[in-house]
Amino acid sequence: MRHFVDLSRFTKEGVKELLAAAEEMVPRARDGLDLARGKILATLFYEPSTRTRLSFEAAMLRLGGSCLGFADARASSVVKGESLADTTRTVDKYADIIALRHPAEGAALACSFYAGVPVINAGDGGHLHPSQTLLDLLTIKSELGRLEGLNVVLVGDLRYGRTASSLALALAPFKPRLVCVAPEGLELPPHVVRRLRLELGTAVEETTDLAEAARVADCLYVTRIQQERFFSTDDYLKVKGSYVVDRRVAALMPPGALILHPLPRRDEVAVEVDEDPRARYFAQMHYGVPARMALLALLLRLIPREVPSREVKGEELALPCPNPRCVTASEEYLKSLYTPLLDREESLFAELGERKRYRCLYCDYEVAV
Ligand code: CP
Repeated sequence: MRHFVDLSRFTKEGVKELLAAAEEMVPRARDGLDLARGKILATLFYEPSTRTRLSFEAAMLRLGGSCLGFADARASSVVKGESLADTTRTVDKYADIIALRHPAEGAALACSFYAGVPVINAGDGGHLHPSQTLLDLLTIKSELGRLEGLNVVLVGDLRYGRTASSLALALAPFKPRLVCVAPEGLELPPHVVRRLRLELGTAVEETTDLAEAARVADCLYVTRIQQERFFSTDDYLKVKGSYVVDRRVAALMPPGALILHPLPRRDEVAVEVDEDPRARYFAQMHYGVPARMALLALLLRLIPREVPSREVKGEELALPCPNPRCVTASEEYLKSLYTPLLDREESLFAELGERKRYRCLYCDYEVAV
């Protein structure tokens, strides 16, 4: 485990190890410890954040280390046109570990190629948010006592809500039933659904009936419509307020269920639901510090623990990634790298008369070649 860019690249055992490390940090997040003295975390945030940046910094301070960085790239030499690669090769001289939030999909992986220190993906566009997912899994496990076989209902902007894709993929080894409720056009990206169904064997259902979905939920995971990812305000206004979890929806849910939200929220969870004991989104934030303490301590090799992951190798193809939000579109010096889809998928595609498919190593977009 050299970097932490995609939780779905860890084996089930690896995810369990990460969770065990995070659970051990829960009491230490309150009391602090002196494990990372002399170590420096750089938080490079090219997009706004409250929870992720502050909880990474709190985690490093609780471990006894220090922090530097920027909360707004407009106050850095990025405005002078500095590339992500050069910024990375500069900051790794000042810090022992980097947490990067960036609007481009695959930016953290690109950063990891240039960094001489570990890189943590603190959110890359609408793609992934693996440290949020680790704290989401920690919340679910702590609050429900298990991860296996849950009915998880994902509600809201599943297209650009990176936390939803991240959680769906990370839960897959735990054999969930995923029920997706999204406005038209904001469904889980097709490549995520395909990967869940074909590669990971996950039951994924799509519905527009939030009330029916709420009745079966062990966990209702709500996400905000990501206005900042829309190209026009009109498009945003068409879907704004499509699904709202209010007291009426909560009343349909099983008594022991959870209502989670990565926050920030707008109108998708009514304030009246905050008083419901099943609404655990503020408790969820509490798990952010121990989860991130565990990540920092593991990546800095401050605690001994083997965390098995899968190596994913890229193959260079003379084919630009067609996803305009991919980091290769904005950081043009990056080579186009792809992974061929698995044999099982290939044979399914062959049956469908499709050509060989590849997945962009950075943003997971699929292309047929
Ligand atoms: N959940 C989350 O990523 O929040 P921030 O955008 O405030 O970091």
